[in-house]
Amino acid sequence: MSAHSSTGYIPGFGNHISTEAVAGALPIGRNSPQRPPFGLYAEQLSGTAFTASRTENRRSWLYRLRPSADHRPFKSYAGSPLFSPATSVGPLAPNRLRWDPQPLPEAPTDFVDGIATMLGNGAPEQLEGVAFHVYAANRDMIDRVFVNADGELLVIPEKGGLTLLTELGRIDIAPGQIALVPRGVRFRVLLPDGEARGYLAENYGALFRLPDLGPIGSNGLANPRDFETPVAWYEDRDTPTEVVQKYLGSLWTTTLDHSPLDVVAWHGNLAPFRYDLSRFNTIGTVSFDHPDPSIFTVLTSPSDVPGRANADFVIFPPRWMVAEETFRPPWFHRNVMSEAMGLIHGAYDAKADGFAPGAISLHNLMTGHGPDVASWEGATSADLQPHRIEGTMAFMVESCWPYRPTAHALQTEQLDYDAVWAGFPKARIA
Ligand SMILES: [Fe+2]
Repeated sequence: MSAHSSTGYIPGFGNHISTEAVAGALPIGRNSPQRPPFGLYAEQLSGTAFTASRTENRRSWLYRLRPSADHRPFKSYAGSPLFSPATSVGPLAPNRLRWDPQPLPEAPTDFVDGIATMLGNGAPEQLEGVAFHVYAANRDMIDRVFVNADGELLVIPEKGGLTLLTELGRIDIAPGQIALVPRGVRFRVLLPDGEARGYLAENYGALFRLPDLGPIGSNGLANPRDFETPVAWYEDRDTPTEVVQKYLGSLWTTTLDHSPLDVVAWHGNLAPFRYDLSRFNTIGTVSFDHPDPSIFTVLTSPSDVPGRANADFVIFPPRWMVAEETFRPPWFHRNVMSEAMGLIHGAYDAKADGFAPGAISLHNLMTGHGPDVASWEGATSADLQPHRIEGTMAFMVESCWPYRPTAHALQTEQLDYDAVWAGFPKARIA
């Protein structure tokens, strides 16, 4: 067994990159030469339709030790019982829902087997929608990889770092950073801190991209150069390696006689990346009122309706609050968009308690929500001065499609979440 080159990253979002772990492995001038260097196999991995516009088109060419086509039939995978079970199909009461953090496993559990699907909408076969999972693991993935045919996977650690050994390179992330693994890219996950917990947003729809900035101008929010794509890395392992694949909502398994993380060189603009959320350039008011949370959008997956996202990944980072004569926390609201929220660390400014790091809340379309009583009392009685919100990172995966919880989620929701909005005093006229 051997692993080759390299740790390193190339900055930029969606750029056309050329990288090789062995000098001379990347063909020059031809994507599929008659005889690639070293007898490597050329393979195209598409992220968009062939005929997508040039601005939308995403694909990469991989040069590997063996072709991906060389595998035996997949069979149903019996592990990971909470990963991607179907969401509820019956009537769903219009309630706000919240969940405590997923407990860390006691038995040895790797990343794949530690995934629990909580919420979902749309469907992989419709190429629309997003699923919201949590993971909790205490064991490296050994002699196996995972691949998702249903969508790209946004990885959001909350506890413990992750090393993602992907076909296109090695990514190291810690809480406060995120990574994205494109649809179809195989990877295995190591736990450098021994245990790990976090969230996954699985995007069935249009690829995540940076939002347009409109009147903000050419800078701000997540800047393209802060996204980092790994350089080529591969392992040459002729040992049995299980491939667990998610495909049309179910998990499947087959075993290769080698590691498929054997891409020696690649070029293209479809690749995994990481991003440090502390580099987000947060925009806010310097006069009054509380802007819509769309100003906190890191990545967006558009739907076919302009301005209406299949999924937005939005963060609530440390920032100055200076609005005058303004209720500064999120106001009360009922939205047509649906909001799944998580907390990476610290506290969220609209909730006094009950929403710990690792927790989830769901506010589906038209459910009334906003600050709890304690947060409302604090915000309405405060002597407003410039104030910095410190030590917090909450996030939201907002979708135009209402989420449905899985059976597991419905069995584990916090009881009496509604109580946080009980006890508001009645307004008095005259
Ligand atoms: Fe909300």
